[in-house]
Amino acid sequence: MRRITLSQFLVGRQHDGKINTDLRLLIETIARACKAISTRVNKGALADGLGSTENKNIQGEVQKKLDVLSNEILLEANEWGGNLAALASEEMDDPKPIPTHYPRGEYLLLFDPLDGSSNIDVNISVGTIFSVLRCPKLDNGSFCEPNEKAFLQPGRSQVAAGFAVYGPTTVFVLTVGDGAHGFTLDRETYTFVLTHPDIRIPEDTQEFAINVSNQRRWEAPVKRYIDECLAGKEGPRGKDFNMRWVASMVADVFRVLSRGGIFMYPRDAKNKEGRLRLMYEANPMSFIVEQAGGSATDGKTRILDLQPRGLHQRVAVVLGSRNEVEVVAGYHK
Ligand code: AHG
Ligand code: MN
Ligand code: MN
Repeated sequence: MRRITLSQFLVGRQHDGKINTDLRLLIETIARACKAISTRVNKGALADGLGSTENKNIQGEVQKKLDVLSNEILLEANEWGGNLAALASEEMDDPKPIPTHYPRGEYLLLFDPLDGSSNIDVNISVGTIFSVLRCPKLDNGSFCEPNEKAFLQPGRSQVAAGFAVYGPTTVFVLTVGDGAHGFTLDRETYTFVLTHPDIRIPEDTQEFAINVSNQRRWEAPVKRYIDECLAGKEGPRGKDFNMRWVASMVADVFRVLSRGGIFMYPRDAKNKEGRLRLMYEANPMSFIVEQAGGSATDGKTRILDLQPRGLHQRVAVVLGSRNEVEVVAGYHK
């Protein structure tokens, strides 16, 4: 079977009029940065990459060395290309406008440079998540100041989103709004090769992913749903369920894309808004999951329809196999 590379895939999308040159080059640049992060993650303890720094990010989480390094790799790769107006990241308090000595472009880029970073030191998959928006325009047609407000657009406005998983293989999943497509890093040619075209999430599933240690703090609808899953064949659902929890959203979502499943990080008495961040975790993942035929909700509202209030806002997430997400949403009504 003849396989195409990410570059060939993107050129094809450009010829079809789905993306313009700037967006193509922006995605190429992000993918190149992901390759560099993958190489760095792979070195592990050999390159003094493990462990924490002395700093905390705006969410009060201690930054791992690789969180900071991955952030720098993405910043350096994307700053000078001329495709962006500003960048925002989990590891930066405020958005960073493109410095004036570089050309500015029409897009805004958000990323979680290293997702699942608590797993770095124990050699479990981690990844990178990104979301691309258009910089809003003023009435006179010029681009507005690329500040935090410019970023606060609902997820349905995303023009592209994707993520990489640095696991046994490095994979890169992408959507530009016409399906979700997966690429595998060929380490001999150092290129991403299309290995998972047109990913489709099965509508039904018997596998859930949730951090059960929060159970006592969950809201009633989530408690009910998981209790019924655990009751198995003898319970109201009439079937047995399996459970998985990697604690790296990238790996959990890649599994859902590969064989179906439901992934949940609900709000609870401790994380009142939820745990995951709307703009650079929930939105890009929800865009990809919907493009693969799945659904994503905060329990009550489609995630892609939520109006963001802040760059680092948290949100409850229930996503994956469509019929199963519907069951959970139904319990919230
Ligand atoms: P990050 O490492 O970017 O802060 O994100 C970690 C997220 C997500 O990847 C994962 O699903 C979740 O946090 C794990 O949370 P718990 O440690 O509470 O299980
Ligand atoms: Mn994350
Ligand atoms: Mn992170």
